[in-house]
Amino acid sequence: MAIFNHPKTSSHHINKSTAAAASYSLQGSSSIASTQPPLKLQSVSNGSKSLSLSSQLQSFSVKSSCTRGTHLRRVSAAASTDISSDAIEVDITLSPRVNSVKPSKTLTVIDQAIALAEAGLPVIRLNAGEPDFDTPAAGINAIREGYTRYTPNAGTLELRTAICHKLKEENGISYTPDQILVSNGAKQGILQAVLAVCSPGDEVLIPAPFWVSYPEMARLADANPAILPTRISENFLLDPQLLESKLTEKSRLLILCSPCNPTGSVYPSKLLEQIAARHCRLLVDFCPRLSDENYERIIYALATHTSFASLSVMWDRTLTVNGFSKAFTMTGWRLGYLAGPKHFVAACGKVQSQFTSGASSISQKAAAATLEVGYAGGEAVSTMVKAFRERRNFLGRFHLFLDFSSYYGLKVEGFAVTSGSESSCQYLLDKAQVALVPGDAFGDDSCIRISYVESLTTLQEAVERIKEALVSLKPTVPV
Ligand SMILES: Cc1ncc(COP(=O)(O)O)c(C=O)c1O
Repeated sequence: MAIFNHPKTSSHHINKSTAAAASYSLQGSSSIASTQPPLKLQSVSNGSKSLSLSSQLQSFSVKSSCTRGTHLRRVSAAASTDISSDAIEVDITLSPRVNSVKPSKTLTVIDQAIALAEAGLPVIRLNAGEPDFDTPAAGINAIREGYTRYTPNAGTLELRTAICHKLKEENGISYTPDQILVSNGAKQGILQAVLAVCSPGDEVLIPAPFWVSYPEMARLADANPAILPTRISENFLLDPQLLESKLTEKSRLLILCSPCNPTGSVYPSKLLEQIAARHCRLLVDFCPRLSDENYERIIYALATHTSFASLSVMWDRTLTVNGFSKAFTMTGWRLGYLAGPKHFVAACGKVQSQFTSGASSISQKAAAATLEVGYAGGEAVSTMVKAFRERRNFLGRFHLFLDFSSYYGLKVEGFAVTSGSESSCQYLLDKAQVALVPGDAFGDDSCIRISYVESLTTLQEAVERIKEALVSLKPTVPV
């Protein structure tokens, strides 16, 4: 793939042989890579950074400086070779769309916790929504039996048929296999739906606290996230009246996550009906709704899961997303699906056909096998949910989303003041070596999220460490 200089920012003539040599050096050949020192990052006196890489072919240097404020960075790269001393300027500006997107904070915390664990620190990781149970063995048979080739873009007919069966039996929603799109995880399904449905400037309505990726997915589609706050006193459930007051001509999608990550709240069917009634107006605007039901199986007695699309007025404007990561502990298999009216599913499929093609054949075989084990995932899933219930009872939801704000503005010697969820999580990671996710990533800075994905013994240890770290926090101004 070649990146061309933007006409407005490139100011030098490019000597063809120099450019060819430079690009060869950046891609590197294994022999060069193994004998040359790694990239070197240096600060230079004017505050800019300089990155240099030398190879047997030439030396290559990239210089970065802020030109217009901190937003617009231009980097110039000068390549010199024996062939020519001409300088070329590489324009490394990125797409505004990508610049507007924040990286996933949950993934950042995961990386940070893994790095600390690899450095030998006894970090307890309560940061990821990743069940700690064994994954199904059916994938191994799939490899042995040679299911290792491309599948249809939408997924194998076997799996899509099994998904239709599951949705009918367990969720009361009727689909045919051509209304199902299997993707590399539910995450891809949601992004493709947002890309397929939203036009630039459309609004994606997202109740907060929200799963970290929704607003960023809206931005990737050049749409605007419109955040709808909810209250802890109302169990973090969306108020239908608030929804109605926020609807504009630009409203295109409402993303509802039930059971919700991070709050664990489950939308009762009565409330869904009220939301559907309010939202009916949008039927005119043809506003589909995205229903993320990834956690439907991890639910405890009294709460019951209702699929939005099972409400008769909602079927033709709901895109239901679900997956295998959470219920079947298949996070690494990367398999999810979207179900909805054929018109939308075909549009999402078009995006996928130019993006990743069909999901892994092996994962699809394994997923089809998990759907065969029985209603709601059979015994394996009920054993897992039972263990989660015990842990939830010990800690006081799959994800606990706790109000931590009373600990803000406190300090302990050697650490910065805990000014919000981010600095509090950093404090707990540094002091207690427990990795948690700051609530600001989910749109609520007063809370932090604890995933109870570890054994009871480990959770007990984590609670002791957190308590100890909190006890030593003192007000910054003595009272
Ligand atoms: C609410 C929600 N939706 C979707 C996903 C993505 O799941 P998958 O692993 O299937 O991509 C996650 C993962 O954490 C999630 O929490």
